[in-house]
Amino acid sequence: MTAGLTRSLRASSLSLGVLCLATLAVRAETPLERGTYLMQSIVACGNCHTPKDGDGKPIADRELAGGFVIDAPVFHSVSPNITPDKETGIGNWTDDQIVDAIRNGKRPDGTIIGPPMPIAYYRNLSDSDVRAIVAYLRTVKPIKNKTEKSTYKIPLPAQYGPTVRSPACPICRAPTKPHTADISRRRSGIAWTATPRWSMAAAIWPKSAPAAGSSRRPAGD
Ligand code: HEC
Repeated sequence: MTAGLTRSLRASSLSLGVLCLATLAVRAETPLERGTYLMQSIVACGNCHTPKDGDGKPIADRELAGGFVIDAPVFHSVSPNITPDKETGIGNWTDDQIVDAIRNGKRPDGTIIGPPMPIAYYRNLSDSDVRAIVAYLRTVKPIKNKTEKSTYKIPLPAQYGPTVRSPACPICRAPTKPHTADISRRRSGIAWTATPRWSMAAAIWPKSAPAAGSSRRPAGD
């Protein structure tokens, strides 16, 4: 083999290697990566489920440990612990039970989750996205923290609409297509930090539920 040929073979295996690396870089997201992205952006469970310090900043080592209080004229809500702690969190819930809580607002014992958890928005999460969120929740550090119960001066609905068993995208109807973009469009409903607390609670209250004392609702919902 000539020196020239060896050199050009070496060069081409090098460029093959670079090509492989490039291919790796564009590989599909894992469910955990997708879940991390969703949690850190639009689904923002931590806005309510992570307790805050005196300056209103999330307490880093208490991620999703609950106990954050939101007071509104018709409720005093306390976010529960949703870390994988088996005793005080959701460590004993199955994946399906967590999915049901997020999309249908139902706990494993059949009770309904009250506001301000924005079930009306989370109902539109695709199977793949909601399961990506569960994948993320499984990786959170378990924290023992028993939280107080929320109290409501209004009756909670029996349920938030027809039970969502598969993705309920009103636009594409595709069973597995992520349609987080749809949620993203209505982002104002869950970006509560940018909205006065009470108007957000009113905005996320589903239309079928008893009027909660305000006419503010997301446009076009
Ligand atoms: C705007 C605030 C808010 C956001 C955002 C929110 N939640 Fe909640 N969540 C609550 C409150 C408050 C409760 C308790 C309501 C009650 O007491 O009925 C609750 C209840 C729950 C429960 C029931 C736990 C139990 O032990 O009863 C689960 C599970 C849950 N949330 C998961 C999530 C997940 C996952 C997300 C993100 C996808 C999320 N929540 C986003 C406020 C929120």
